[in-house]
Amino acid sequence: MLTRRNSLLLSVLLCVSVVSTFVEELDDSFLEARGENDIWLIEFYAPWCSFCKQLEPVWHQIGSELKSLGSPVNVGKSDATANTGLAKEFKVRGYPAILMWKKNMKYVYSGRRSKDGIMEFTERVAGPTVRSLNSLQLFQHVMKRHDVMFVYVGATSQLKGNFTSAAELLIVHNFFFSAARDVLPKDVSVASLPTVVLFKDRTYFIYNEEGDGDLMSCINRERFPNYCKMDSYRLYATGESGKLVVLLLVEENEQSEQSVRYRGLLEDVASQHRHIYSRNFYFGFMDDSDYLTGLMMGDVVVPSFVVVNLSNDGFFLPRGSVDTEKQLLDFLNGVLDGSIQCQGGNGVVQRVGRLIHETKLLLTSLFSQVPLLGCFLVGFLLAIVVFFCYLCCKARRTTSDEDDDDAPVTPSLQRHKKSD
Ligand SMILES: *[C@@H]1O[C@H](CO)[C@@H](O)[C@H](O)[C@H]1NC(C)=O
Ligand SMILES: *[C@@H]1O[C@H](CO)[C@@H](O)[C@H](O)[C@H]1NC(C)=O
Repeated sequence: MLTRRNSLLLSVLLCVSVVSTFVEELDDSFLEARGENDIWLIEFYAPWCSFCKQLEPVWHQIGSELKSLGSPVNVGKSDATANTGLAKEFKVRGYPAILMWKKNMKYVYSGRRSKDGIMEFTERVAGPTVRSLNSLQLFQHVMKRHDVMFVYVGATSQLKGNFTSAAELLIVHNFFFSAARDVLPKDVSVASLPTVVLFKDRTYFIYNEEGDGDLMSCINRERFPNYCKMDSYRLYATGESGKLVVLLLVEENEQSEQSVRYRGLLEDVASQHRHIYSRNFYFGFMDDSDYLTGLMMGDVVVPSFVVVNLSNDGFFLPRGSVDTEKQLLDFLNGVLDGSIQCQGGNGVVQRVGRLIHETKLLLTSLFSQVPLLGCFLVGFLLAIVVFFCYLCCKARRTTSDEDDDDAPVTPSLQRHKKSD
């Protein structure tokens, strides 16, 4: 009996020690101790942060999986409130912060905090900056797996240098490849080498410095498929491209016949008119209305189309209903030629409005879910406000009394004069 309990205890202890070897707890001394070529995946947390607690089991799984895969990536975590030197080095602002440190580069993970998302990021960023594809089979295999692919074709050149420096920064978002010309699919015709070919939307584009600007901003602008399903992470990332986003808001889960039809309409316009609109727009549908209701400060019709400018929180609404291809094209043209006004924006008035809107939403949901608590909180807040008003009035009265003493002519003095 006793031995069984002991062995149970032993196995629990073993388990604990095994788990903790997957993820190292890092402190400020790590800055000096780290080997120059080590690759680290680090989570910065704060003891009070609930999202960090939710991430903890995922983080251990990631640590153990990378160990068992024999990955060169070390997994660590650090209490950013205690190890401020380390947190400062990584410019940690929010929690949990997930970062990769590779050579002298630091990469921030900004996607969904799921194991798959973080593992994919780790594999991509920890691997070679530019991966070489040396057979047609490999090329086709990779092409099937990626929506968007940037491929350098040719020998060493200045363009390759530019491609590699762009890849070093943008590998947080995309994969970068290099290939010989004879490895490219047969239908890809490349006029001259070296060159950069972008594969997406079931077609390809050849980079041209004159028309597309410098390589880095071209890659940054084009790194998403022209049409896709959006979630809030993707939408914010798309905003960094500088393009506007044509959004279709649809219902969650079960989608009405109308939504399905509108999605078809959006996809058709995105692909058939891509040569006209892809410079200015990305196209996507979204089933989460939180972002849009926050942006527009009100309820949004579902399904409906809206064009958003993520760089200034502006949005454009169609003048009438959008039910046909022509109406959708008219809408897009109206946005481009300026005949449809941009609404919203990130001015002070808009921000205050959005804050009020969010507070209102919070209070309404509070009242509908826990009316008593809502009443109590509102009453409590009111009481505080009244108390402050009282304090202010009182303070003002005493200062005005003092003013009276200093004033050269006060009513009481005048009265004295009169009595003289
Ligand atoms: C590489 O980048 C530099 C600096 O942005 C630019 O001046 C040059 O033209 C680029 N070279 C090629 C071949 O794209
Ligand atoms: C989107 O916002 C940016 C930043 O304010 C602005 O420069 C750009 O002109 C806007 N685009 C349109 C089409 O309004």
